[in-house]
Amino acid sequence: MQFQLSEEHLMIQKAARDFANTECLPGVIERDEHQKFPKEQIMKLAELGFMGMMVSPDYGGSGMDTVSYVLAMEEISKVDASVSVCMSVNNSLVSWGLEAFGNEEQKKKYLTPLAQGQKDGELYIGAFLLSEPEAGSDATSQRTTAEDKGDYYLLNGIKNWITNGSSASVYLVMAQTDVAKGPKGINVFIVEKAWPGVTVGAKENKLGIRGSDTHSISFTDVKVPKENRIGADGFGFTFAMKTLSGGRIGIASQALGIASGAYERALAYSKQRKAFGKEIMHHQAIQFKLADMATRIEASRLLCLKAAWEKDNGIDYTLSSSMAKVYASETAMWVSTEAVQVHGGYGYVKEFHVERLMRDAKITQIYEGTSEVQRIVISRAILK
Ligand code: CAA
Repeated sequence: MQFQLSEEHLMIQKAARDFANTECLPGVIERDEHQKFPKEQIMKLAELGFMGMMVSPDYGGSGMDTVSYVLAMEEISKVDASVSVCMSVNNSLVSWGLEAFGNEEQKKKYLTPLAQGQKDGELYIGAFLLSEPEAGSDATSQRTTAEDKGDYYLLNGIKNWITNGSSASVYLVMAQTDVAKGPKGINVFIVEKAWPGVTVGAKENKLGIRGSDTHSISFTDVKVPKENRIGADGFGFTFAMKTLSGGRIGIASQALGIASGAYERALAYSKQRKAFGKEIMHHQAIQFKLADMATRIEASRLLCLKAAWEKDNGIDYTLSSSMAKVYASETAMWVSTEAVQVHGGYGYVKEFHVERLMRDAKITQIYEGTSEVQRIVISRAILK
């Protein structure tokens, strides 16, 4: 067993840390306050090759492994989780899904610019459209329909809570082609935002990750060419589940980063803030909080890296990615709340960053499968 990172992994980790501190930290409070999408940061992240980290260089990607992705996600999420969710969706839900299951034409046309995060110098990213007003955790209850019209499908319906909703150029849309077949009647389509009949709803005004653009997207008689269906007829739900297994490693790493960022700030603050005649780090009440934070963060990191290692080594990672996500996201919520507590009143104001990290942590227990959904996946795996 090997617990050391390679030289290459350390280099990627450092590049991500430097990027987060020089490019994401300036302006993070203002972007959060004004819900400003971090376009400039995403364009620069694309230049670093981090928008298609795991995609093969044959399709414009960086050809890195999932362990590298976890390391980069942690570093960027320590500073700005609105940047990292955009990165995560583009990498593991959109690009991975296309590379694993798309055909050659689909990969050349869509994956190459997605992996590079740009096309002709303009931002080019993707979004994953599974959730609906009445199909969140209950994802098989899709109401969006795609009617087979011969050489095209006619797409109608509405999707909710879509990350990168207005900034994406390409959507992967799950839709029902045959209700009678249940989950086996769901397909997945590549849909371009610019096509007639696609409407982007208003931006959601959120508690956290306020820089990321979350929208509902509606489809009215959108003509989707036959060649834009991914995989065989009826593959859509399996596509969604398999893709989400990898996505959950990304969100687990995001939660890990939020927890680490909050912990590092609490640790630094405890060394300079004095109370009762000494730095608060000398009080056992604070020491025990820091000890628990460090322990839970390390356990989260190991779960994330194990899931990533399994994915890189062709081992089924459905169970480990759900374990990593539920544990890391609950850790992020707990650690960030305790980090606010360590800061006292200062933790409650924006300049000290930890209140934002606490707000950002909450979504990691909800998106890409709530903690309850992760427990369904885990219990089914251990009880079968
Ligand atoms: N891999 C392959 N196939 C899978 C699978 C997996 N991981 N999980 C389920 N399936 C298959 C099942 O085998 C089943 O097929 P059969 O009928 O042939 O056996 C079929 O899919 C239906 O599965 P279930 O019977 O298990 O379905 P269920 O209704 O009990 O639901 C669930 C299971 C785990 C709760 C699932 O619905 C789920 O994961 N829900 C959460 C959805 C989710 O994560 N949404 C996130 C939205 S995306 C997002 O948040 C992105 C963002 O913007 C940040």
